[in-house]
Amino acid sequence: MFSIRQSISIWLIKLIQQFGPRNVNVLGRTYEISKDVFNPKYYFTSQFMAKNMIIPMGAVVLDIGTGSGIQAITAGLTASKVIAIDINPEAVKYAEKNVKANKLEHTVSVLEGDLFSPLKQKSFFDTILLTPPYMEGEPQTGFEHALYDRNKQLIRRFFREAGNYLKPGGYVQMLYSSIAGPDHALDISAEFGWKHDVIAHEKTFSESFYIYKLWINS
Ligand SMILES: C[S@@+](CC[C@H](N)C(=O)[O-])C[C@H]1O[C@@H](n2cnc3c(N)ncnc32)[C@H](O)[C@@H]1O
Repeated sequence: MFSIRQSISIWLIKLIQQFGPRNVNVLGRTYEISKDVFNPKYYFTSQFMAKNMIIPMGAVVLDIGTGSGIQAITAGLTASKVIAIDINPEAVKYAEKNVKANKLEHTVSVLEGDLFSPLKQKSFFDTILLTPPYMEGEPQTGFEHALYDRNKQLIRRFFREAGNYLKPGGYVQMLYSSIAGPDHALDISAEFGWKHDVIAHEKTFSESFYIYKLWINS
């Protein structure tokens, strides 16, 4: 059942990436993307996360899997500092452009790399944002990093490490979809001691989306 829904979603996403507009306006801000950067306008997840994430005034924020930079840029309006990371060099290039276009270069920095690896020194954040790939499969191209997480390996690596980068009282905000087994993702987080709550939930015609707040050791 998951796989049919996932196949339809992947087909639609790839179609939009190929033929969709490359300059889009989302929540009153403009974003430029290429066909290889997750389009922040046409999938429910980008805006849903940007609208519902909790960013306290002056917070220090880490955005893992920034794509176009939409969550980093939205967070940058209230945060004191945002670091945005993506493994896809094309996403890094466009997120940097979008940060500049939105005049947030003094608040938001964009780094290329896998999960936490680009963080040079020990850094601590009030909140870590994660809008992960969650379809079952192996990425073969830069763009496919936005889609696939084989056997939830990325989720497992993320929750093994994320606690090392949070300030006391800090928390993760993660988006997940009903078509990808959110309970399985939460079970993996629980193996590493994470607890969770639902911050936001919305049902569309084909799936339900959840934003979870997760914390550890508090
Ligand atoms: C579903 S997209 C979300 C993009 C953006 N946050 C949004 O909501 O529009 C997931 C992003 O995570 C990035 N990503 C996947 N694996 C990653 C990893 N191991 N480290 C850093 N970024 C990764 C992808 O390249 C992609 O840009």
